[in-house]
Amino acid sequence: MSTKTPYDVPPGSRSRRPDSASPDFPRHRPRRLRRTPALRALVRETRLSAETFIYPLFVCTGEGQRREVGSMPGVYQLSVDEAVREAAAARADGIGAVLLFGLPDTKDTVGSGAYDPEGPVQAATRAIKREVAGMLVVTDVCLCEYTSHGHCGIVVDEEIANDVTVEQLVRASLSHAAAGADIVAPSDMMDGRVGAIRTALDEAGFTATAIMSYAAKYCSAFYGPFRQAADSAPAFGDRRSHQMDPANVEEALREVDLDIEEGADIVMIKPALPYLDVIAKVKAEFGYPTAAYHVSGEYAMLKAAARNGWIDEPRAMLETLTSIRRAGADIIITYYAREAARALG
Ligand code: PBG
Repeated sequence: MSTKTPYDVPPGSRSRRPDSASPDFPRHRPRRLRRTPALRALVRETRLSAETFIYPLFVCTGEGQRREVGSMPGVYQLSVDEAVREAAAARADGIGAVLLFGLPDTKDTVGSGAYDPEGPVQAATRAIKREVAGMLVVTDVCLCEYTSHGHCGIVVDEEIANDVTVEQLVRASLSHAAAGADIVAPSDMMDGRVGAIRTALDEAGFTATAIMSYAAKYCSAFYGPFRQAADSAPAFGDRRSHQMDPANVEEALREVDLDIEEGADIVMIKPALPYLDVIAKVKAEFGYPTAAYHVSGEYAMLKAAARNGWIDEPRAMLETLTSIRRAGADIIITYYAREAARALG
């Protein structure tokens, strides 16, 4: 029978755990530093700040449009004028960047609306850069909002054809850069798209336009509410042929490695909360600017529980965002950006 207590330390051990047998016990009292708000603030390891948030906006056509997304309370489909207003309000809250998604009026099989110079994303980019001083504009680059079938690429023989899709993504990126986007963010998960976009941007003279790649984007159930917001659910099949299997982490490191090799300036992991281990590994392995996308389903879960009175929303929100940052994310993309910025004061 063992007589060991939890405090027994083997002889010669470097453990600093308090030893109950020690005459000094209890020398260490971790609670000393938890006693007051000032002490807790002094030793806090992780801090949230509005400047590290990116606020996603869904931009539609028309004027004066502000339509709430059913599954995402507090998130709206906004016409360009309203998107400018929302971006200005976010800037006033201390947020430094928006991420734009587009809802075009018409769609086709090759997603040509993605590179329409007059499309909602291109128009909103120009308007926000012109009217909201200091606001960075990041644009989502993907075909799923622009294809009639809702897939992220061109479908050939019921498969998403990689290389012709990359050509479309390059066109979309160039149109975003021409509109003044600071950062383009390819979210499609086609192979080789970061390199192709970097080459094309450089050749067109957009050497200062940065790329934030959705490097490790998992095939996740948590994108459901987004697909309602962006009207981008696939009409048939799913996204398993290009988005990653949730079971894999070594593959995520290979994806990140390839994107950095191809010229990504920032790498993103998505979703965030179910993939905190991936965020931590990517940050530790590459030491590269790392973003995490706290996605629509993660937001909707908190909103739903809060609406039922089951959780304290402000606390749950800040705890969630803190955990994402503690895991290693430098940047958090979140629909909570404004609420969190205001809560942080
Ligand atoms: C694709 C894209 C998606 C999201 C961001 N970019 C949806 C998808 O892959 O189906 C999801 C974001 C979210 O759920 O908040 N353009």
